[in-house]
Amino acid sequence: MVTRQSSKTVKPSSPKVLFVGTEFAPFSKVGGLGDVVGSLPKALVKRGIDVRVVTPAWPGVLKTVKDAGHEVTTLPQKVSASYAGAVVEASVHRIDVDGLPVYFLESDYYAGEMYPPLLNNFTVRPFMVFCMQALDLENATDWSPDVFHCHDWTSAALPCLLAWNRQYGELSSRKSVITLHNVAHQGIFHPGPFFAESGIDPSCFNPWGIEFYGQINLLKGAILSTSAVTTVSPRYAWEIQTYESTQELSGVLYSQRHKLQGILNGIDVEYWDPSNDSMLPEGYSVKSMGGKDACRVELLKRASFDPDYTGPIVVCVSRLVEQKGFDIILPALEQINDLGAKFIFLGSGHRWIEDTIKGMAANHSDSLCLFTGFNEPLAHLIYAGGDIYLMPSLFEPCGLSQLIAMRYGTVPVAREVGGLSDTVVDADAEGGGNGFTFLTYDTQGMLWSLRRAIERFSDPKAWSKVRSKGMKEDFSWGKSAVLYEKLYKNI
Ligand code: ADP
Ligand code: GLC
Repeated sequence: MVTRQSSKTVKPSSPKVLFVGTEFAPFSKVGGLGDVVGSLPKALVKRGIDVRVVTPAWPGVLKTVKDAGHEVTTLPQKVSASYAGAVVEASVHRIDVDGLPVYFLESDYYAGEMYPPLLNNFTVRPFMVFCMQALDLENATDWSPDVFHCHDWTSAALPCLLAWNRQYGELSSRKSVITLHNVAHQGIFHPGPFFAESGIDPSCFNPWGIEFYGQINLLKGAILSTSAVTTVSPRYAWEIQTYESTQELSGVLYSQRHKLQGILNGIDVEYWDPSNDSMLPEGYSVKSMGGKDACRVELLKRASFDPDYTGPIVVCVSRLVEQKGFDIILPALEQINDLGAKFIFLGSGHRWIEDTIKGMAANHSDSLCLFTGFNEPLAHLIYAGGDIYLMPSLFEPCGLSQLIAMRYGTVPVAREVGGLSDTVVDADAEGGGNGFTFLTYDTQGMLWSLRRAIERFSDPKAWSKVRSKGMKEDFSWGKSAVLYEKLYKNI
């Protein structure tokens, strides 16, 4: 499992790239950003690119890494940041995952909650310090990146520091890329002592810089100061330039469209592989589906449903937030008795969503079940044991859940938005498809597609056609890794 990167496999002509991300699957993952930072660099390493990752060692992460059997090397030199008049140091712990060097930074700054519920000058500090320490990494290693690849607002300070903090003048010829995984979160807070603490030149506090309606907006600052902006699907790249869908950055994104590119996410197809998944009671593949029944029975038992039930199981593994369509899911669940399916959810997030589903499940304990919390093995069982995957998102930059679901033979019912519209094709469209889609964000629209899926399920031959189509799709990083490689070279 633990391998060292071989210098023979690295293409000397390719730029050296440091991924700067606050999540890294499977050790510190909240959602898809963690999956991407955990899997795209591995695909780039396979293409011979010298890529490394730096990420904070949030509480418990180093223990999980060690428990997974990785050999951890602590570097003799620490990295440091100068913030709010103090020098903040972090120890650097290196592991190698399938040839990918990963540096975990350990400091008191990363000892709290991963993402603060409220952003202000104080709670933003770990993210500012993390970016500064990422820029300092080359002083602790014998390796200096040509490109810093940042992800979302949590590492958006890095391009801003390169552009507007004189301390990093020496690095100003280095390039940066920011990938927008979700424009709904921008890192907005009141400036207060921000400029004095961060050393960022206050002259960038203007509409063409880091300022946003009188506040600091880290994501906006990064978009304007970075060399290239990518987002996680072609459709979302277009949507975020239009007024309706972009939480007010559409003008900025439209003005920067010359450097904006939508590159579809992939998944780690070795990790997400139903024929070789140690978290499942039995494996299966598109050619031999028997094991999916064993997963189904196990899932029914876990949900305390009748294990002999043969009707459709609708599943969803998701953050319980408005983005994922719970506004339209909850009214549909009120009609659960008429739908002819059982529903199993796994997720955590907003209390009101959790409480509403729990309340309904108490009244329909034979057909509705909610598992709360973050549970990786259970997520695998749900993807494998389900029949229909519900993903009626309000907006969806890419979405990985529908890709995983299809790979596990669980057919998505999805809204035609963002990356869902780039990956799910309606089974009733000309030429057939891999799922069931709808356009308008309302319960009736969603139910129209869900009912079509439930009806199709009762025809095993027709169902198998839709399911097989999804299972055979190529959702690996292959094609997209080529596009990232090109982008690094072009900038
Ligand atoms: P987002 O990043 O917006 O949350 P994605 O579909 O891109 O949505 O990725 C979500 C990822 O997080 C998937 O890998 C999904 O399986 C995982 N996930 C979400 N909630 C949970 C949970 N409660 N337990 C385990 N995995 C989860
Ligand atoms: C975000 C988005 C999701 C995307 C993921 C990985 O969390 O909400 O759509 O798949 O990032 O890029």
